[in-house]
Parts: sequence; structure tokens; C-alpha cells
Amino acid sequence: MNATPQPTSTFEPIPQLDLAAQFAAISGEIRAAIESVVASQQFVLGREGAALEEEIARFCEVSHGVGLASGTDALILALRSCGVRPGDEVLLPPFTFVATGSAVSALGAKPVFADIRPGTYNIDPSQLERRVTSRTRAVIVVHLYGLPADMDPILEFARAHRLPVIEDNAQAIGARYKGRRTGSLGDAACISFYPTKNLGAYGDAGMLVTNSAELAARVKTLRNHGQISKYVSSEPGWNSRLDEIQAAILRVKLRHLPDWQRARQSHAAEYTAKLNGIPGLMPPVPGEGFEHVFHQYTIRVERRDALQNYLAERKIGSAVYYPVPLHLQPLYASLGHKPGDFHHAERAAQEVLSLPMFPELRTEQIVRVADAVLEFVKS
Ligand SMILES: Cc1ncc(COP(=O)(O)O)c(C=O)c1O
Repeated sequence: MNATPQPTSTFEPIPQLDLAAQFAAISGEIRAAIESVVASQQFVLGREGAALEEEIARFCEVSHGVGLASGTDALILALRSCGVRPGDEVLLPPFTFVATGSAVSALGAKPVFADIRPGTYNIDPSQLERRVTSRTRAVIVVHLYGLPADMDPILEFARAHRLPVIEDNAQAIGARYKGRRTGSLGDAACISFYPTKNLGAYGDAGMLVTNSAELAARVKTLRNHGQISKYVSSEPGWNSRLDEIQAAILRVKLRHLPDWQRARQSHAAEYTAKLNGIPGLMPPVPGEGFEHVFHQYTIRVERRDALQNYLAERKIGSAVYYPVPLHLQPLYASLGHKPGDFHHAERAAQEVLSLPMFPELRTEQIVRVADAVLEFVKS
């Protein structure tokens, strides 16, 4: 083994995510938006929320948006509106944030996992057929890290079994599959505006988007205690309303999203130009027809934990999304899964590492990160 270069302590830290840099660029617009809501004294289900619903629906190329308190709620209410009940089964990938599974569990339904493709980290459509049963009621696909799942074979499978498809679009707002926006491909989609997302609020917020007027109307009822008119409820519902301050902030940020998305894509291209074709290292290389929005720039290496330490010693931030696949979570111990059940998800959980990625990242920072990764891999 060659001598590994030693870290230099004079380096400026490079965080994995820097929200302060974004705020510095737009703080005037944000403060004005918040001030205007405060002056209006209308805080819940008002003008800003309604405008955001229209703007996000337009951005996602669908007819309806329903503002909600979180992305998790969007998944729960989408499943509920598609008729998922206690005891039903829902197909989903095991390699995702736990919310994808816990939304299913929140309704008393059972998550049934189908493994991922190792090159994309998204659900492998060829795994669905063997997992479907007479109790299956829906499919959730996750566009992980900002890369669309391979929707055509998934939609074909779902059509054949008359199952609704819900897109977990928490990480991929703005992405495209064969020219069409994620969020417009299934029966309904969830969007998360968690602060770290590509379009992040200053607290929790989410939205359901759909082309179905009926489904949108149902979710509007469910988000507000099942009320069909004032103080008249037709079924048990939730309080999952989007607040006006978050909506106003998101409307400001939505205007910048296309530029931020281009910046992320350009940073990803710079990383990939340096990291592609190196033995032992797999950068994200989307296939033809898959437009990635790089919520995360996630590479794969066998000695992942050692690489993460190596970067940390050089003051370079990185993150592991996600170290424990859902089928091995204590939450799902009762499902009886064991290591080896979903080989590709388990290997990904051991090998993925997300490098610094945010729109304000600078070329010299990308070069420093990529050089450190290369030094490690070649050592
Ligand atoms: C893939 C995925 N699904 C669902 C969620 C849940 O969204 P939220 O945190 O807004 O409830 C998140 C984000 O946290 C996510 O990354």
C-alpha cells in the first residue's frame, strides 16, 4: 500500500450541506415574505397556501396540489385516499428513508419490500411480480437521491394488477423521466419540503400532487378533520394543514429552484468528470431518459466508513443515506426479515456515501472533495 497523503489542517471545512449560504443570497426576499404573512394575520389555509398549491402543481405538470404539514402526511393521505386499510399490503423498496414505510404502518397496513437495482438504488420493477398477493393494495416508488425510478415497467405492472402507484417524490422535485416530471407519473405523489430538501421550508411542510380532482378533494377533506363543510365531518381525518409562513417562504424559493437545480446538475457533472471510470468507485451516472436533480451526489465504495473518516480528517463533510434498510429496522422486526433477504439494499446501505452537494458549492471545493476521494481510492 502506498503512503497516504496526510490531511492539511489549514483547509477550510467543506460541509455536506450549507443552508446558510442559500439564506445569505435570498434573505431579503424571505424576510419580506414572512413580514407580509405576519401583517395579514392569516396563518393557516390562506392566500399563500392556495397560490403555492397552484404553482407547485404547475411546476410538477399536474392539475392539483394539496398543501400538507409534511411529506410523511402526504404519503399517509395518498395511501388512505387510494383505499389502503388496516391489513392491506403495500409494495415499496427497502432502501429509503423510514418515512416511506412508516406511512404504510401508520394506516395499519403491511409494508412488503421489493429489492432495488444496484446501479440506481431505486426499486427493481422485475421484483414486483413475485411480491404481489391478493392483499396488495398499492405500490410506492421512491425517486431516491433525486433520480427517477424506472416508471414504465412499474406502471405496466400496476395496470395489470389494477394497483394505484404513489410516487415518493420527497427527494426529486424537478426531476424528469422520459421528459415528464416526477410527481406526474403515478396516481399521486408526495413532496417533502423538509428544510434540507431541494425546495425546503423553514420547518416541516409537504404537498400531495395529483391529476385526479377526486383524490385531491378527498385529501383536502382528510387534511382538515374530514370536514366536508364547516364543522361537518364525514369521516375521521387529520390536522395536516400547511401554514402560511411556510407557504410564503416556499413561493420565494420556488422562483429560484430552476437555477439551483441547474447548479446541482453542473456540480454533479464536475464531480463525475473526475470520479468516473475509477476502479472501486461508482459515481451516479443516470441512464438515457432519466434526469437526476442531485438532491444527493452519492457514490459507492467498498471501504465506505474508512473513506468517510478520511474525508472528515480533511474537514470534508459527507453523509450516509441510509445505513439500515427498512427490512432490518427494529420497527419491522415483527415482519421476520433477516440479513440476506434484500441483498442489493443491504450492500447499498454498507457502501453509499453522499458527498457535499448544495447549489452554492464552488468548483475549487468540488475539486478538493474529488481529489480527496481519488487519493483514498487509489491508496
Ligand atoms: C424518501 C423520503 N420519503 C419521505 C420523507 C418524509 O418527508 P417529511 O420529512 O417531510 O415528512 C422524506 C424526507 O424526510 C424522504 O426523504
